[in-house]
Amino acid sequence: MTKYIGILTAGGDSPGLNAALRGIGKAATGYFGMQVIGFKDGFRGLMENRIIRLEPSTLSGILTIGGTVLGTSRDKPHRMPIGGKMLDMTEVIVDNYNRHNLDVLVCMGGGGTHKNAYHLMQKGLNIITLPKTIDNDVAKTDVTFGFDTALGIATEAIDRLHSTAHSHHRIIVVEIMGHNAGWLALGAGVSGGADVILIPEIPYDIENVAEAIRWRSRAGKNFSIVAVAEGAMSKQEAKAIRTAEETKTKAKDKAAQKKAKAKLKELESRHSGNTLRLANQLEQLTGLEARVTILGHLQRGGTPSAADRLLATRLGTACADFVNQGLYGVMVAARGEGVEPVPVEEVVGQRKLVPPDHPWVKSARLIGANLGD
Ligand code: F6P
Repeated sequence: MTKYIGILTAGGDSPGLNAALRGIGKAATGYFGMQVIGFKDGFRGLMENRIIRLEPSTLSGILTIGGTVLGTSRDKPHRMPIGGKMLDMTEVIVDNYNRHNLDVLVCMGGGGTHKNAYHLMQKGLNIITLPKTIDNDVAKTDVTFGFDTALGIATEAIDRLHSTAHSHHRIIVVEIMGHNAGWLALGAGVSGGADVILIPEIPYDIENVAEAIRWRSRAGKNFSIVAVAEGAMSKQEAKAIRTAEETKTKAKDKAAQKKAKAKLKELESRHSGNTLRLANQLEQLTGLEARVTILGHLQRGGTPSAADRLLATRLGTACADFVNQGLYGVMVAARGEGVEPVPVEEVVGQRKLVPPDHPWVKSARLIGANLGD
């Protein structure tokens, strides 16, 4: 019996998505004789039944292309903005899955996509997920595809910022993506030789950071590179957010919950602009001129690195193999040089953050990088 696979890519795009699509598609159609369709723009395309047939002609020539040929979106099946309203479109999605006689829906994404995929699993759909995100924060996999490419881009940026910081005797604060995880900033900070590395998992003390920079000046190095994760925060800010989160968890009624939620939202929105504030504070505390570089979406763009193409192809082909075995309800996790099926429910709601005693943190400290604590 021919098996039918549906695939979608959801959440922020990530280098390696096309390599993964090609890996699944080629193995499924060419090796296992299955049929594969792709849904455009994540769960939105599945709901609107917008499809592309993934066959040799559509899979050819996409290995080196960044982004996703399917398109993506952050839409959720149970909360989709339609005509100015948020509607639960789960039933329509289940109908479309059945209409195509799918044996399985493959969802490639990060934390949010795993939640959405699990939601559909609970409605009876067969699901397999692939862990992709430049943030590398998906639980239960060694690594996610997209991370290596973004790491390379951020490292190259730090390399390039060195010469201009040095020439102008400036502090350059470079903001690196990663959402609430510090993998990218830490990895790029170590690889690029940043003098200060600030990550969300290790809240910083601004005076400590300033003193590290002043110390460099006294030692004759009157420039500094500060690699700051977009989610990094000061000790005070971290404390305020922790308190608000605790209040939200303990809230006894709906009104108290709403108030705590609003407080959290306010703190989160106050966080945006943190990098600019940090640079201003450092300028005042050190007397050195500071400039800010926000790498932003540059880190997600362009051709995937060899390591990401290899990882995405490994996970994609393993996915086709899982379908062949009828192994559903799992994420195809990268484990050492191989892969491992991990139940989706073990991934949902978990986020892989940098443990404060992680070997990369230790290395950063041993080479003299200041981590702000
Ligand atoms: O999850 C990937 C990521 O690039 C994060 O690092 C970042 O916080 C977020 O997506 C940005 O999302 P958007 O592209 O929707 O602005």
